[in-house]
Amino acid sequence: MNELILQVKNLEIFYGEKRAVNGISMDIEKNSITALIGPSGCGKSTFLRTINRMNDLIPGARADGEILYEDINLLSEQINVVALRKEIGMVFQKPNPFPKSIYDNITHALKYNGIRKKSQLDEIVEESLKKAALWDEVKDRLHKSALSLSGGQQQRLCIARTIAMKPTVMLLDEPSSALDPISNAKVEELIIDLKKDYSIIIVTHNMSQASRISDKTAFFLTGDLVEYNVTEKIFTNPSNKKTEEYISGRFG
Ligand SMILES: Nc1ncnc2c1ncn2[C@@H]1O[C@H](COP(=O)(O)OP(=O)(O)OP(=O)(O)O)[C@@H](O)[C@H]1O
Ligand SMILES: [Mg+2]
Repeated sequence: MNELILQVKNLEIFYGEKRAVNGISMDIEKNSITALIGPSGCGKSTFLRTINRMNDLIPGARADGEILYEDINLLSEQINVVALRKEIGMVFQKPNPFPKSIYDNITHALKYNGIRKKSQLDEIVEESLKKAALWDEVKDRLHKSALSLSGGQQQRLCIARTIAMKPTVMLLDEPSSALDPISNAKVEELIIDLKKDYSIIIVTHNMSQASRISDKTAFFLTGDLVEYNVTEKIFTNPSNKKTEEYISGRFG
């Protein structure tokens, strides 16, 4: 087994009185891809957003339990959430580039973090776009609007924007579900390639995608973590009847 990057212990997440995640525990391995699957409303996005404290932004949301990262509980009040979100980056279902140039999309947060030197910014832009497998397509139009890119290119730009912050963990919430099959395949290839450098947690409704790209799979159902194991086991011989029904498309 790989080294662990995150240890989730008895994590409960509430919206007001309503509990959306019911005391789950799971270890997440470094430099691996962990897929979160389960029917709509089972708590996948809630869990993902809690890891980098994006869920804090929702009024009435709160979390109990622990998410340990380098022995620090990310749910602690003392956490600097801005620094945390740099280290644990997130990409959403719908590509959400800023209405700025391709170049500025990547440098925006870097400048905010005090990096001003043009040569250094140029270097990070090139490196991030290369890692996101987008460089060749955009290198001659870096100062054109990001909104002129196709959906698949916009999503790779959002991934490049996250990479530029040099995160250790990347949280991907259905990152290719809004894309056409070719863009989807490119994003999938990219994710597999990224696991050399990052630990990736990906939410997907696409069972074949989960089985193709992930090392471990977690099946959620109404806020419970029903089954969590190596992906091959989940998809060929799940222990729980509900998992089997879900992956074979009988509900959800
Ligand atoms: N902002 C919110 N305020 C109140 N309740 C919420 C909020 N966001 C999610 N919930 C509730 O929390 C539960 C889990 O929702 P969540 O969005 O995490 O599910 P999901 O597994 O990501 O679903 P999907 O596959 O549809 O994206 C649901 O019952 C949902 O209604
Ligand atoms: Mg969701």
